[in-house]
Amino acid sequence: MTRFDFAVTPTLETRRLRLRRITTDDHHDWLAVWHSPGVLDYLIDFQGAPNDAVGREIIQWAERIFSDRSGIRWAITLKPADRMIGSCGFHLYDRAHRRAEIGYELHSDFWRQGIMTEAVGALLEFCFAALKTHRVEADVVEGNAASAALLKKLGFTLEGIWRERIYQRNTYQSLWQFGLLAPEYRAIHSAGSDS
Ligand SMILES: CC(C)(COP(=O)(O)OP(=O)(O)OC[C@H]1O[C@@H](n2cnc3c(N)ncnc32)[C@H](O)[C@@H]1OP(=O)(O)O)[C@@H](O)C(=O)NCCC(=O)NCCS
Repeated sequence: MTRFDFAVTPTLETRRLRLRRITTDDHHDWLAVWHSPGVLDYLIDFQGAPNDAVGREIIQWAERIFSDRSGIRWAITLKPADRMIGSCGFHLYDRAHRRAEIGYELHSDFWRQGIMTEAVGALLEFCFAALKTHRVEADVVEGNAASAALLKKLGFTLEGIWRERIYQRNTYQSLWQFGLLAPEYRAIHSAGSDS
């Protein structure tokens, strides 16, 4: 299979979900995700209250990372509805070193139903099989038990702690660095080639 060329955003399907391109029509649904209880508590690089301007900026960011080929952010929708209930994707894609970082968030009405396990499962399959990444990383604010549990369930290893790596919400926060390598992923899922 040839490596993904960023011509169009692919739609990813799982049993319950459709991951599709984010459009400006998703603006209010994405803000509703961020306004749902607990979603912003551990997000990195986000401070303050999400408002219309922030909603537009984040959609522009999703468009920009796709056009500069450094990432894709998908809208997560619960079939058969087309409404965005969360997002996930990769960014900081480093083609030379075959490495990408992932991120995700889900409206709290849908937590603990295995939805992000399903969505990030599809995202990882895309990263390792289509994008041919060798390494997928995730940075998690220390204390984010839900995100750490999700990553461990999907096979990630906690590799270390970046001590007080970011300054936000008026304090320095440490980050847990998680990583998953292609051979580890294939050992779990019998996925496609890394070459
Ligand atoms: C992190 C997040 C995406 C998890 O989504 P989710 O759909 O609820 O996760 P899942 O239901 O697929 O659960 C995955 C695993 O994590 C566990 N888990 C989920 N929430 C948990 C919590 N609050 N505490 C401990 N474990 C938790 C689940 O039990 C499951 O493990 P199990 O199947 O062995 O029981 C969601 O909590 C969220 O959007 N949080 C706010 C945004 C955020 O923190 N994003 C990540 C930034 S790094």
